[in-house]
Amino acid sequence: MERLKKDKLPRHVAIIMDGNGRWAQKRLLNRVIGHEKGMDAVRRVVRNCREIGISYLTLYAFSNENWNRPSREVSALMILLERYLLKELPEMMENSVKLNAIGRIDLLPPSAQKTLQRCMKETENNNGMVLSLALSYGGRAEIIDGIHKIAGDIEKGRVKVEDITEELFSRYLYTDGMPDPDFLIRTSGEMRVSNFLLWQIAYAEIYVTDTLWPDFGEEDLINALIDFQKRERRFGLTGSQIANRR
Ligand code: FPP
Repeated sequence: MERLKKDKLPRHVAIIMDGNGRWAQKRLLNRVIGHEKGMDAVRRVVRNCREIGISYLTLYAFSNENWNRPSREVSALMILLERYLLKELPEMMENSVKLNAIGRIDLLPPSAQKTLQRCMKETENNNGMVLSLALSYGGRAEIIDGIHKIAGDIEKGRVKVEDITEELFSRYLYTDGMPDPDFLIRTSGEMRVSNFLLWQIAYAEIYVTDTLWPDFGEEDLINALIDFQKRERRFGLTGSQIANRR
């Protein structure tokens, strides 16, 4: 951790946690065991990000497309989610982690929704780090949901069409109130964004590691952050314009 520059940390880290299935298949185990190990990796990364001083951590835990997986795997993931929340709630309180959920949460099984709501309520005043779980999440669906909401406000006369800007529209997304992720990590080697935070990652630095999610540990996180700290973020400007700003 001493290898990290405290003044150059990303504010918001987003992670596509891929490779649970492959981790299990390599060991001739059931995919669900891979997800269980993946849950342990979630515990570690939340703890590590909090210790390092990351303000926002967003994890892609279940996509809209994941509903099409075999029903046994879907139910196992929902049970794991509840188990994770109930087990981690005391540590979230201790470390002042505020839990948030993004996605079409109303599609989750009622019991998972209840546990999620309870944990969000209990942690709502915590201010150490915001942990957002993307559940039943899709980036395009989020934009469409945002369009429906803004269209509703236009109909009610609360918003004028000519007032729509990027900034205003952002407030209609699930991530309202959060800074955009400045760092996106994907495990398991695939060079894809898989419909994750499509609007919000416009300027994010992307880091892909071959490590499978269940194997992702503190050292991998630190290596990723060191890589982030070496990058020059230009936001469409030239290198010398950026240097002159400093
Ligand atoms: C990708 O692995 C992972 C998922 C679809 C779900 C992520 C879930 C967890 C990390 C565990 C539970 C999460 C919480 C928050 C408790 P994959 O199955 O797509 O792997 P593969 O591409 O190798 O098949």
